[in-house]
Amino acid sequence: MAFSPSFLDELNQRNPIEDVVGQYVALTRKGSNLFGLCPFHGEKTASFSVAPEKGIYYCFGCHKGGGVVNFIMEIENLSYPDAVRFLAKRVGMEVPEDDRENSQYKKKERLWALCKEAARFFNSQLKTSAAAPARAYIAKRGLSSSTVTRFGLGFAPDTWSDLMDAMIAKGFTKEELLDAGLVSKNEKKGTLYDRFRNRLMFPIIDIRGNVIGFGGRVMDDSTPKYLNSPETTIFNKRRNLFAMNIVKKSKQGFIILTEGYMDAITLHQYGFDCAVASLGTSLTQEHADMLSKYTNEVVLTYDGDAAGQNATARAIPMLEKVGLRVKVLRMQGAKDPDEFLHKYGADRFKLLLESSENQAEYRLRSLQMKFDLSVDEQKVEFAKQAANLISGYATAVEREIYGARAAEMAGLPADVMKLEINKAYKRRVSSQRKTQEKKDLEAADARQPKARELRYDNMRSAIAEEGLIRMLFREPALFDKAKELTMEQFSVPMFGRVFDALRQRWQRDLSVTPSVLTELLTPAEMSHLTSVLQKQDAPLSDHAFEDCLRIIWEEYRKANVSDSDDLRAMQERLRKRKGYGGT
Ligand code: UTP
Ligand code: MN
Repeated sequence: MAFSPSFLDELNQRNPIEDVVGQYVALTRKGSNLFGLCPFHGEKTASFSVAPEKGIYYCFGCHKGGGVVNFIMEIENLSYPDAVRFLAKRVGMEVPEDDRENSQYKKKERLWALCKEAARFFNSQLKTSAAAPARAYIAKRGLSSSTVTRFGLGFAPDTWSDLMDAMIAKGFTKEELLDAGLVSKNEKKGTLYDRFRNRLMFPIIDIRGNVIGFGGRVMDDSTPKYLNSPETTIFNKRRNLFAMNIVKKSKQGFIILTEGYMDAITLHQYGFDCAVASLGTSLTQEHADMLSKYTNEVVLTYDGDAAGQNATARAIPMLEKVGLRVKVLRMQGAKDPDEFLHKYGADRFKLLLESSENQAEYRLRSLQMKFDLSVDEQKVEFAKQAANLISGYATAVEREIYGARAAEMAGLPADVMKLEINKAYKRRVSSQRKTQEKKDLEAADARQPKARELRYDNMRSAIAEEGLIRMLFREPALFDKAKELTMEQFSVPMFGRVFDALRQRWQRDLSVTPSVLTELLTPAEMSHLTSVLQKQDAPLSDHAFEDCLRIIWEEYRKANVSDSDDLRAMQERLRKRKGYGGT
């Protein structure tokens, strides 16, 4: 999709980057730049910057950056042309092109509209006489009418095409119904039929308020208990959480993560407006990232059964990785929050929340439950595993406190436990060091050119050479500062040739761009050079440029001044000195 340069210029002018980004990220001014929490990775300190004069953003944490169109592509998950259209629409500009109907964004807008209409349809069906069993089921589950309204619950009638007919009457096509996952296809006959039939319907709404899919529950014991929308272009289970659109406005300061729609809904009904549910999948890193943007603390309320405990164990590290505090709720007398609230009420649940364990306690207690500590061998095994677990806690204070706790559990002297923990701690540190060393090696390997024949022999020099070349392309005037540098001093011959060729062009006042090197370089060299140039890590400064020069020189010296040279130089100095002192 080619837009005219003048159109794009106006688009950029009318969409100042600080305004556009400011709609997604709270920005604070620091000098000439603005800073905020990066919307692209979970973080607690602001490393996301916007430079209004340059019209760019850049995150020092995750290294994402670009102009206003890149930002919209990234955050709204749009293609380049759709991001341009999005920004044009934002400021009421006409887009000068014809195939708008085909654009992905227009399609998504249609599917959002369709799902919204479908939600309205399901909701209105609740009032029909055919929905009497659904109303009875809602009552049985203790859902109030305001809850039904707030979550837009509905009823899918027990027919094969009521939804489809109603949506077609509203102007949607069969293809759109298929794309939204609202109808299924009978492959043999090629006919379409409503996917959701005779179910209580839960609309799933994304964080921006668009209806993106549905969960449907049977009202008896048949299976599957819940049927969800399939993955579609607008519905992605890995990236969405049920009720997040409501929870993002909560003032609670923490988010309760549940396993089921019903749990989240009942929590809201009982006044906990900070409950979300995953959509029939286990928690993903994307979920954790999203949560970290809205809270500092997550309380896990998964079922007490083995599956729930596994899910808890899996979720903890993902949440901690993005800096969230994690607490685990232990429920007794009920299998999930929904059941608990109806049985014991909100106050008892609040007590549970207040006494929920931090993850360190939780892990230790889970371990304890695996052993019969009245049996000696099991006691020994518990002590070993507990020591191993506790040795992983970051601070000495934590290791001390939980060490004492574990000793108490096992009925062992605190000193003995401490000794075990110290041993485990040393093992851990040494294995971490080894992993780190391996990682460093791999990182160095990752910097190697993709083509084998271009492998770097001297990584330190090669990285400096990359930086130098990159800066020279951006600011050819820097050649003035590299008068003493010769192509022989480069450890990577290809960079030496590039340097030499470009310097000659610069001296003759010819343009210095990558494309002029096509003749000089092999295709492999050319692609390597482009990969180096598209990296934008080194900020352009005299200082950075001089660093590169110095490193190249140092490494060249190291490689070319042999021991015998040094010896001769020393003998020379000695002889001179003798000369002085001698006569
Ligand atoms: P549960 O079986 O724990 O159900 O499934 P629940 O939340 O307690 O539901 P109620 O109280 O019986 O109504 C938890 C979640 O797993 C997904 C759904 O997202 C559900 O909310 N699930 C469960 C499915 O997707 N399909 C199923 O058949 C069952
Ligand atoms: Mn339940």
